[in-house]
Order: sequence, then structure tokens, then C-alpha cells
Amino acid sequence: MELLTADSKNISRAAEIIRQGGLVAFPTETVYGLGADGLNPIAAAKIFEVKKRPSFNPLILHISDEKQLFDICEINTDIVHKLIETFWPGPLTFVLPKKPAVPDIITAGNHTVAVRMPDHPVALELIKKAGRPVAAPSANLFSKLSPTTAAHVAKQLGKQVDIILDGGNCRVGVESTIISFEDDDVYLLRPGGLNTEEIEKITGPLKHKRSSLKPEAPGMLPFHYAPSIPIYFLDEVTPEVFKNKKTGGLFFNEMKKISGLTDSKILSPSGNLMEAAAKLFRYLHEFEDDGIEIILAEKIDEAGLGKAIMDRLKKAVKKYS
Ligand code: TXA
Ligand code: MG
Repeated sequence: MELLTADSKNISRAAEIIRQGGLVAFPTETVYGLGADGLNPIAAAKIFEVKKRPSFNPLILHISDEKQLFDICEINTDIVHKLIETFWPGPLTFVLPKKPAVPDIITAGNHTVAVRMPDHPVALELIKKAGRPVAAPSANLFSKLSPTTAAHVAKQLGKQVDIILDGGNCRVGVESTIISFEDDDVYLLRPGGLNTEEIEKITGPLKHKRSSLKPEAPGMLPFHYAPSIPIYFLDEVTPEVFKNKKTGGLFFNEMKKISGLTDSKILSPSGNLMEAAAKLFRYLHEFEDDGIEIILAEKIDEAGLGKAIMDRLKKAVKKYS
């Protein structure tokens, strides 16, 4: 594995690796992605192997130019064009009917494919230079914390990736919002970096699908996105649970007085949800790295990006409850 600064020369090398069927971890505005040639089934298979990801969990294809859409999916509603115009490049993923060029391994056998144009200069240059859609899940092991720095990727996937392009911290910090279309309805499959309120200005109210163990978007598994240490909501835990344990408190905008905390982190002292989302995974990684044994997280309002933040926290808590 080579950890390289994401300059133009290294991006060209990384694009060549992708064309040859290798794996490149790269920054996007949401989280780091583990990228492979999205039209090469063998390259895509490596993603599943390295992430230890179940094969029923389909991948997102990343594009750098709207023209690439015509090779990979059907756009069956005008709303998609309007959403693309408004939000791309950006943290919004569409699930659309796939075209035959997309290998089954990418879609896990579904007739639909997920697509997104990331809002990050390194990601866009890499996809453009690779000259094909780049399949990329978040660059973490299955059901573990998503990476928002190159070091997070190296920690989990290290040697198994050919190149990690270091582009610093991810600006948004939580994965993209995913929507799908059925008849005249638009469904929210995963809350994420784009506020649902913004999307609903164009689509009208989004419908919801219930989470299940056989999910349409495995972001919909009832647990997912979890740190490797137990995490509980502050208001749902009794002191016995964290007695004599190295305990980390994760607060929204101010510290709460709780005795027995080893470390405390505030997601955004000014109460800014964008800042809080950008720091969420970073702080959970830091707790892991610092040997914290249990995390107590404060709940936040589920408005705007609060919805994506609480989705990730609830799933992490569920894993340990
Ligand atoms: O922000 C993001 O979306 C990041 C960056 C790297 O772009 N990627 C990401 O990928 O979060 P991943 O694989 O960790 O999550 C993709 C989600 C999964 O929950 C998957 O089930 C869902 O997208 N998905 C992919 N294809 C789908 C399809 N055809 N139908 C329904 N859900 C799909
Ligand atoms: Mg993921």
C-alpha cells in the first residue's frame, strides 16, 4: 500500500491502478471511498473481499460527468434531472434502473444501480482520469466506522489497498443521502449529508421504507456504522453500566456534568450541525484509538443534518443494546 498526497501526478497513477483493476481509496466530500473500476466485475469483487462486505450489499457508482449516466442507468422521471441540476456534484445518491453495462456484482443482482457525482476535486479528477464510473463504498470494514481521513482508511484496510490518496479531512463527514423512485413516489433509503428538507422542496414529502435485515439499502440494516466499542445514549444509561470503565462523553454543543468521564468531546461548540456531522466519525475514531471502553452520546434534534447524525448514532447504539 502506498499512502500518497492527492496531487495531480499521484491522481494519474491512481487512475491507472483503477484501469488495471486495482483498489484506490480516495477522498470525497462525505467520507473516503474504496474505489475500483465500476464496469469490471473482478475489480469490484475485490472491494467485497477487502471490506468483508456481504455480497447482497450493492455499491454506488461514482461519476464525474453527467454524460456517463447514459451508459449505466435510465432516468425515468423529470424530477431526477431537476435534482441533478440542483444538488450535483454533492452528497445525494440516486437509485435508478440499471443498464446492461453495469455488472451484477455492483448491484447485487438488483435491477437498479446507485449513482452519485461527488463534490470533491480529487474524486472528480480520479474518475475523469480513470475514464469510467468508479464503484466505491465507504473505505471501512463492513459495519465498522466510516473513514473521514486517510489515516482512518490505513487503520482499517491498510495493506489491502494499492493506493490511498490523502486529501485531508472530509468536509461533510457523513455518507450521502440515498433516494429511490417508485411510480410517483420518492423514497428516502438513507438520511445523509444532504438535508431531506432541501430535497423535499423539489420532490414533496419523501416516503420511508422500514429498516429490515434483508434491506433494499443495507445502510437500512438496523445496526451498521458502529465503533468497535459499546456506545449508549446518555439518557438511556445507568451509572453502573460505565462504572470503572474508561468512558468517553460525546456532546452536541456543551459538556454535561457527569461524574466518571475519562474524556469528553463536543461536536460543535456553536451548535452548528454541519460542523457536528463533519466531526462525528472523527471523534468516534479518536475514542477507539485512545482506548476508551464505553461511549455515552447525547441525543440531538433530528432536524436538518441532525437526522443523518442520529441515524448513525442510533444504529451504533442498537448494535450494543
Ligand atoms: O457518501 C457516500 O455515499 C459514500 C462515498 C464514498 O461516496 N459511499 C457510501 O457507500 O456510503 P456504501 O457502500 O458504504 O453505502 C452505499 C449504500 C449501501 O447502503 C447500499 O445498500 C446502498 O447504498 N445501495 C447501493 N446500490 C443500491 C441499490 N441498487 N438499491 C438500493 N440501495 C443501494
Ligand atoms: Mg458504508
